Amino acid sequence: MARDSNKKGKIILALDVADISSAGRLLDRTGNRLKIIKIGPALFTGYGPKVVEMVRRKGADVFLDLKFHDIPNTVASAVRQAVRLRVKMLTLHTSGGAEMLKAAAEAAGQEAARLKVKKPLLLGITVLTSDRGSVNTKATVISRARLAKNCGLDGIVCSAGEAAEVRRACGKEFVIVTPGIRPRGADAGDQKRVATAKAAFASGADYIVVGRPILEAQNPGAAIQNIIQECYNATGDRYGRPDQGIAR
Ligand code: C5P
Repeated sequence: MARDSNKKGKIILALDVADISSAGRLLDRTGNRLKIIKIGPALFTGYGPKVVEMVRRKGADVFLDLKFHDIPNTVASAVRQAVRLRVKMLTLHTSGGAEMLKAAAEAAGQEAARLKVKKPLLLGITVLTSDRGSVNTKATVISRARLAKNCGLDGIVCSAGEAAEVRRACGKEFVIVTPGIRPRGADAGDQKRVATAKAAFASGADYIVVGRPILEAQNPGAAIQNIIQECYNATGDRYGRPDQGIAR
């Protein structure tokens, strides 16, 4: 069945570097190969909206991964601020509960309508990929994914190991983002539930998030190219041709 191909097959770079100048240099080195850049709590705490603006100036969309988890009113206010920054995606913890998730979804919709901008995709964190997991992990991820969907979120973040069942449970339009991506044999670092890019897409992920395998490579551009090639080999040109990078 044809799912929205614009929404699919994206490689997101986790911009987990120490400071804004290293971030800018890295983006210059990797060129325009990747169109969505993830900004996490370290860079955002250090530099705030300036780092969002820098990434957008370089032509990429921003995934603001601050994993909000607070009382509903506070999370709703934070989400409104993120909408004002024109981010493409943002995260919040599903463990914050239904009231918090609904408040966030409502705030995003209202603020985007008020500003006449596209509403960011709201993604629920289920179980972190750094969690080793247990026999209960899959069930927990699926129940949190269902909760996210019922509360009006657009998708979730989970490991590739749960993606196929989340897809079955939540349907074809639900956005699935999988971090914990490692090329075969690469150092997992603190990540536990890891998979290759190919395996993640094969299990139904719409987007994969990759940090250290690119950031720590001698040649980050070549590391990106290898991942694109791996996805191309797995799927044909559905995710973009290797010589063109991944389509936006
Ligand atoms: O370096 P690495 O590829 O492990 O980076 C993964 C990125 O994805 C990090 O920025 C991390 O914060 C983020 N992330 C994650 N697991 C989640 C949600 C986000 O690893 N469940």
